[in-house]
Amino acid sequence: MNYMQVVGINSSPRKKSNTDLLLSAVLSGASDGGCETVHIDLYNFEIEYCKACDTCYKTGSCVHMDEFSDVYDVILESDGIVMSSPNYINNITAKMKSLLDRMADTVHCQRLLGKYSVAVSTAGGSGAQEVADYLNQSLFIMGASIVGSVGVNLSDGEELFQKGVDRSYQLGIQLADAILTKAEFSDQQEGHNAMLDRMKQLISFRKDEWPYEYTYFVQKKWL
Ligand SMILES: Cc1cc2nc3c(=O)[nH]c(=O)nc-3n(C[C@H](O)[C@H](O)[C@H](O)COP(=O)(O)O)c2cc1C
Repeated sequence: MNYMQVVGINSSPRKKSNTDLLLSAVLSGASDGGCETVHIDLYNFEIEYCKACDTCYKTGSCVHMDEFSDVYDVILESDGIVMSSPNYINNITAKMKSLLDRMADTVHCQRLLGKYSVAVSTAGGSGAQEVADYLNQSLFIMGASIVGSVGVNLSDGEELFQKGVDRSYQLGIQLADAILTKAEFSDQQEGHNAMLDRMKQLISFRKDEWPYEYTYFVQKKWL
């Protein structure tokens, strides 16, 4: 792949999703900023719950024979990832949580290092920003650098929602710029370093139980 790609993941089950309007605006900004974009509706994919069997840590593969890897492969081949979820009981949707839980090995192996993250959320009453922050934080612990987020509470009215759409478009342009210029966020570097140090300790401690991850770290020259 010699172009830069941004993937947007919509985890609302609704046809006329409010959150997807924000996501689509981010993707539109990223496209105008010079990136290829891919839009994924997570509800179209069968994604089982993580069983905590540790097989991915041990072997690099998951025991489930479902459609997780169809989504995951696009994430891994993208330079920018836009996560989107409505607020469901002050949290992300269960569908999005299923996807994130299946990415525990991504945290260990810090596979999103060098990639950029954006998150968007809407809520009926409150909490949209917290949900968007959680999504960005989840990608951050996998190695991605956070470019920004938009959270809109619908209770704030149509005018503020429209402003949220506009901010999302601008954020998409910022995301493309970060990708194309390989932007460094010096305030996030300490967090990345601390995370990698923690994972080095964990994986060397568990090297006999998790040979796949240990080998991965050795090949990366992290251990
Ligand atoms: C199961 C469920 C739980 C929800 N929980 C909350 C909540 O805790 N707080 C809130 O403000 N809105 C809540 N909402 C409202 C949605 O966050 C809101 O309608 C959102 O804009 C829906 O986004 P969508 O159109 O992208 O699906 C909930 C909606 C559903 C269906």
